[in-house]
Amino acid sequence: MQIIIFDDAQQVAANAAEWVAELINKKSNPVLGLATGSTPISLYQQLVNKYQANQLSFKNTTSFNLDEYLGINASNEQSYRHFMNENLFDHVDIDKNRTFLPTCNQGENPRAQGLAYEEKIKQAGGVDLQILGIGANGHIGFNEPTSSLASRTRIKTLTKQTLTDNSRLFKQDEFQPTLAMTMGIATILDARYVLLMATGEKKSQAVKDMIAGPLSAMCPASALQMHENTIVLLDKAAASKLEEQEYYQWANDQNIKINQKFGLYHNY
Ligand code: PGA
Repeated sequence: MQIIIFDDAQQVAANAAEWVAELINKKSNPVLGLATGSTPISLYQQLVNKYQANQLSFKNTTSFNLDEYLGINASNEQSYRHFMNENLFDHVDIDKNRTFLPTCNQGENPRAQGLAYEEKIKQAGGVDLQILGIGANGHIGFNEPTSSLASRTRIKTLTKQTLTDNSRLFKQDEFQPTLAMTMGIATILDARYVLLMATGEKKSQAVKDMIAGPLSAMCPASALQMHENTIVLLDKAAASKLEEQEYYQWANDQNIKINQKFGLYHNY
């Protein structure tokens, strides 16, 4: 894992936007893995700004989101489709027919839907760069603690902690889904690059468990220790429980020098 610590959340978003822009500008048919939640909102804002400044076009981009709620449809304001439209898709030149979320509507078979989503990702050539947040309980996507590290796209029952964490986004009488379709951990590990963003003190224990804890289904994000190209972007608060911060900084300084000498190499 490459761990980069920034002063604040804005710098995390700006750096994440550079990674996305580099992929899109470099590859003729880029495939992005996208995430919802509070953390990536400022990344999407930065990407919209770049598009409006003519620095970035999403015309040839295909996207796959990590997850989608069950029991509400796409037009519901709480759906992740709605979130993506609001925060990114409606403001850039992406072809919405090539933006996918793992849905399972009423009457559809979730197993078949999960398999079909995996197949669609494969047909698109696989995810080049997967954007991730992390739950306070260490989840990635909606892969809650005890999720199989070999899991694929499927239905997950959300934990009490996740429901409580996300309840801030729902009005008092509003229906809050307790089930979701989510890419599995193995699906996420298939991405060529993973870019995980975490900000705020509330994430600091999960960040520590992910980076320095044992590989364990109790912290699904720890599976990223098995991934060849994971970059973790943190603000100081999210990094506050890490003991090896000096080493990460030093290693990044060396990386910059190596990249200057040999050129940046991303295997997209
Ligand atoms: P958040 O969610 O960005 O809203 O904190 C992250 C996650 O649950 O993956």
